[in-house]
Amino acid sequence: MHRQRKIGRPGLPHPTSMKHMIHFNRLAISCLPLLLCISLNANADRGSALPAHVPAVYLQECASCHIAYPPGMLNPSSWQRIMGGLSKHYGTDAALESKPLQSISSWLNANAGTYKRVTEAPPEDRITKSPWFERKHQKIDSSVWKLPSVKSAANCSACHRQAESGHFSDHDLVIPAGVPASQQRAWRD
Ligand code: HEC
Ligand code: HEC
Repeated sequence: MHRQRKIGRPGLPHPTSMKHMIHFNRLAISCLPLLLCISLNANADRGSALPAHVPAVYLQECASCHIAYPPGMLNPSSWQRIMGGLSKHYGTDAALESKPLQSISSWLNANAGTYKRVTEAPPEDRITKSPWFERKHQKIDSSVWKLPSVKSAANCSACHRQAESGHFSDHDLVIPAGVPASQQRAWRD
């Protein structure tokens, strides 16, 4: 199913544009149960979950071991904890000097998710442990996450071809090697 993706920015619709308003309301209602508007709402016009401007320092320092995770997928306090604990970062050392640390922290803070769906910090401040994430991926068999072609749920680009640029739409999915036909349901609908 092709879901509607032209969700406006989460702000108020333009007061003089009735058409826009109706459009906005319909979408707000239709996307509520998806628990996903967090990422999509932020930048729906471009279809990317990443803000329009991603500073080079974020890409350099935070997208070498994994993709540049969209800031809107976690709330400000999760990002603060992550940035405050980089020397013990999910089993690795990702420590930074104070200048890049400061600038990345403030950028993440300014672009963190403020939507209801991300109010609660997920376990370990992991995007992959957020309720919306689990919901969106519930049709994926648990064995799939452990395949050598996937390694971890945090490895978004194993399945989302354009994760690097913040695109997670159903149209940009790939089935990683080794997923048996009987477990490909999540990719097909
Ligand atoms: C030296 C490698 C490395 C660097 C540099 C690094 N990370 Fe990570 N990061 C990891 C590893 C390893 C994990 C755990 C991945 C897994 O569970 O498969 C991780 C996980 C994460 C997660 C949680 C993913 C999930 O499961 O939802 C976030 C968020 C994150 N990193 C943010 C950052 C930010 C922000 C920076 C830059 C300040 C950064 N990382 C830099 C290695 C790194
Ligand atoms: C093993 C493959 C796989 C991995 C890894 C994966 N996803 Fe997904 N993701 C999917 C599939 C398949 C769907 C479509 C599920 C459906 O429609 O039932 C999906 C759906 C989504 C959606 C909803 C898209 C929409 O248009 O409704 C988002 C957002 C998303 N994933 C984000 C992520 C993020 C962020 C990561 C990494 C932290 C990630 N995914 C890791 C397979 C994966």
